Amino acid sequence: MKTARELDYRLHHLCIYDDKPRENMWPYLRWHHGITNYFSGAVFHVTGEGHSDYTFLGCGGRAYQVQIEAPPFQFEYERNWWSDHGRGYNHICWITSDARASMEQLLANGATEVMPFEEFPTYDGFVVHDPEGRWIEIMEYTDDTFRVQEFTNAPSGECGLQMVGNSEVCEDVDAMKGWYQDVMNMHVIDEFRANGYHEVVMSDREYDPDERRSLFVLHNARYDFEKAHMAEHGPYISSIIYQARDIKRAWEDAVWAGMTELQAPAKDPLTGLQTAYLREPCGGNVLTLTEPYAP
Ligand SMILES: [Fe+2]
Repeated sequence: MKTARELDYRLHHLCIYDDKPRENMWPYLRWHHGITNYFSGAVFHVTGEGHSDYTFLGCGGRAYQVQIEAPPFQFEYERNWWSDHGRGYNHICWITSDARASMEQLLANGATEVMPFEEFPTYDGFVVHDPEGRWIEIMEYTDDTFRVQEFTNAPSGECGLQMVGNSEVCEDVDAMKGWYQDVMNMHVIDEFRANGYHEVVMSDREYDPDERRSLFVLHNARYDFEKAHMAEHGPYISSIIYQARDIKRAWEDAVWAGMTELQAPAKDPLTGLQTAYLREPCGGNVLTLTEPYAP
């Protein structure tokens, strides 16, 4: 069996389920994002169960992106999640060098199957649950040229906005920190603990503080909006993380663009970073906005 290191996992995208993607991508576009790829019908991948409708969006940073996925979902397991949870952050995707070997390695280490390994025209992939039930998608590109396009590492807008990753609310932060380290070869780049709160900042092996800050943050539920979501949905993908050189201007731009205020910029006593929270348009999921942070 291949090791996590050999499988070379790299953070790729966060998927949002939303039934009004055309409408709801506009606040993202107005907030300095661009569309990196749009795939519908039979373009991306085709199965016997339906077709795809995917919009990929990026903002100011290299590599990390969001994907808005719209009904009709291709697979029954996707339609089941949609009827259980509705609009929400559905999965995080990692790219690997060997998807078939990755399926074997993850299932042998506590992950459980959601979608079996499948060979699509442009990639091989599958979906599993992590040990707390959040979805992990794994993709291996198999076409010579097909890729979801990436932006260069250039902060966007006058506020210098960058999308850098996502965070997840965990039931057991220490256990999940260990699992993502051991099984997916993520490494800890920073950690905060105070007053019962615990936040672990991780990344993959391609992390570069100047050129590729893809962050993967694990934490326990801290705010009322997190505790309420956890009570209803269980451990979940909790926010998209943004950083801006001018956080006040980025906040104002976000509200103008159609994001809604959740918590205005203020110093976070746990991390020491200027931090704000907003809700995005695809179902009111949470966005975290901080000052630039490159441990
Ligand atoms: Fe995906």
